Amino acid sequence: MPRVTLRQIIIFEEVARYKSHTKAAAKLHMTQPAVSMQMKQFEESLDIHLFEREGKAISLTKEAENMRTYTSGIMQSYRSMMEYTEQLKGVHQGHLVVSVATTANYFTTRILAAFSHEHPQVKISLDVTNREKILSQLAHNEPDQVIMGEPPRGLDLDYETFMDNPLVVIAPPDHHLVGKKCITLSDLTKEKFVGRELGSGTREAIERHMNKAGARYECSLEMSSNEAIKHAVAAGFGLGIVSQHTITMELDNHYLVLLDVEGFPIVRHWHLVTRKGRVMSSVAKAFREYILEKAKDYV
Ligand code: PGA
Repeated sequence: MPRVTLRQIIIFEEVARYKSHTKAAAKLHMTQPAVSMQMKQFEESLDIHLFEREGKAISLTKEAENMRTYTSGIMQSYRSMMEYTEQLKGVHQGHLVVSVATTANYFTTRILAAFSHEHPQVKISLDVTNREKILSQLAHNEPDQVIMGEPPRGLDLDYETFMDNPLVVIAPPDHHLVGKKCITLSDLTKEKFVGRELGSGTREAIERHMNKAGARYECSLEMSSNEAIKHAVAAGFGLGIVSQHTITMELDNHYLVLLDVEGFPIVRHWHLVTRKGRVMSSVAKAFREYILEKAKDYV
């Protein structure tokens, strides 16, 4: 019987996902040579060729693609076993793994801080990332809880809506549209925009809204951070459409101003999402209840 270890299966899953030893190493807090060595031993133990290498890029062989059906099943069982042991430990200790969409981080960190205060023994891993990465994490049933905009279709998910997420139009204080009432969409679309990268949930929602209204929405400047967008708008690059959660401070100190535009705010919502049937630890359950009860106090 080949001597395959669980560690090798865990590493294989990451390498297969990122198609990169370097990225898998970063995710697993390992060195790249250690990952390569483990994968070489994995191939030798199984006596199967798993990777095609072309310079730095790697791809999976057909056999390796087929193997993933089994390795991801093993990982699911492993995670369920760990969840079960977390459950046994109760709510005051254990490990909570949370992934949140970039925009949701504005309130999530404060909620997590309060939760951590009440449960100081709980170790928390928080991944703040884009929608695309969250979808992949959900597909692999990794996080205990996900906070995101629209839950994706086609995955077996449990989700609950817990808070509004209005999208508003922002401008620098000296912009010529500031103070104007009921700005029309056709006025708006004459302007330049600064917006989020492809893969952002906010961007998807804006494009959907504008398409439906028959209005053009194109960004002259694309960025993957809400902070960068706010600075670019304040610097006069153009207008921005962002979640109201991201601009509380900037509105208070008049660094940015809201525009009164027809059809805005775009009404969106935040959702708490998990894979259906996931064995939830006591800590994950407690966090879920905490968010549902207290989120509104943190916006
Ligand atoms: P973001 O927002 O991906 O634009 O940060 C989250 C979402 O709307 O899903």
